[in-house]
Amino acid sequence: MFMKSVLRITVSAAVLALGGGMASAGNVEVLHWWTSGGEAAALNVLKDDLASKGVEWQDMPVAGGGGEAAMTALRARVTAGNAPTAVQMLGFDIRDWAAEGALANLDDVATSEGWDAVVPDALKAFSKYDGHWVAAPVNVHSTNWVWINKKALDAAGGKAPTNWDELIAVLDAMKANGITPLAHGGQAWQDATIFDAVVLSMGNDFYKASMIDLDENALGGDTMVEVFNRMAKLRSYVDDNFSGRDWNLASAMVINGEAGMQMMGDWAKGEFLRADQVPGKDFVCIRFPGTQGSVTFNSDQFAMFKVNDPEAQKAQKLMASAVMSPVFQSAFNVVKGSVPARTDVPNDAFDDCGKKGMADLAEANANGSLFGSMAHGHAVPASIKNAMYDVVTAHFNGEYDAKEAAAELVAAVADAK
Ligand code: BGC
Repeated sequence: MFMKSVLRITVSAAVLALGGGMASAGNVEVLHWWTSGGEAAALNVLKDDLASKGVEWQDMPVAGGGGEAAMTALRARVTAGNAPTAVQMLGFDIRDWAAEGALANLDDVATSEGWDAVVPDALKAFSKYDGHWVAAPVNVHSTNWVWINKKALDAAGGKAPTNWDELIAVLDAMKANGITPLAHGGQAWQDATIFDAVVLSMGNDFYKASMIDLDENALGGDTMVEVFNRMAKLRSYVDDNFSGRDWNLASAMVINGEAGMQMMGDWAKGEFLRADQVPGKDFVCIRFPGTQGSVTFNSDQFAMFKVNDPEAQKAQKLMASAVMSPVFQSAFNVVKGSVPARTDVPNDAFDDCGKKGMADLAEANANGSLFGSMAHGHAVPASIKNAMYDVVTAHFNGEYDAKEAAAELVAAVADAK
């Protein structure tokens, strides 16, 4: 059914470029979930870049933040024997497809361009499978951010919160000032994005033990009960219409001052920039209180599916090479809200939040406080992630109290393993 809803548009920029006399360098059909205003603006940077190289772009957008719907559409296409040539993909999903033998080998372009030396190990863990490159990382996002309306913050005392108690004080002040303190969309992946940050705020060791090592004591113990208590507290600051709301509409509530803040990955910044907002002036970006120094990351990568047509293979390699160019990595990520996947890209073109993102990432990477985001597919395989989503969302919607939720989490993870 969703196949019908999938739009497929051949991009005019490429056609125009070709109309201008450039020889076609092949065609890539790209499956992605970049459909919000900020995401589409960033995607245009990529489309234009490929058009300038003569690569024709066939668009296959599948709306739905976090990419769950896109992954369902992908499975259907592959099952039908008709895989798209390039696919936006996160972490463990790349590993799963590589294990199925579905991904093309990008070693020759990676070797000739020296990717090994410039892509950090944390990303290579997903870009490479069995020692071979299977995906080109376009960015690094991180999930432990809070985006605050500057006027609303000023009216709430003006000081960005650095710990849980300060956060609650600011949320209470925003409530007293008559706005929705927390802009949120009730979708499982959005609930899980906040959960990532709350878990991380309990300490690096706790995040690692619970979200990555899946230690039962961490998943079901007192600290996890406290995490769920905090999730319930945060739930008390959302508006009545939060259920099912898309993340970018929640960003819009902060942008227009209807709400005070949003807890969301740095793709949210793309929406603020799109609305001509300036960091420090119109909005403030902080790490989720209690997580400064640590980062939960996710990286959008383009995985190339195995294709037989030599022309299509050539276009895939051109796309992989374009994605990895330092100039492109700067231009794209400035618009997207993320930071480059390469360590050698200068930060000059980035705004203050982008510069902070790059510095935080380097610091966390050096200090062993960089962790894969559970909510965005970089901590555990999709089967376990989905099991966690179910518990987090059921608790957020009042189905379980905090103690029950922690016990359910242990059981759900054990079942999914
Ligand atoms: C992706 C981002 C995207 C966000 C919302 C995340 O999983 O990594 O690129 O903007 O989902 O759709």
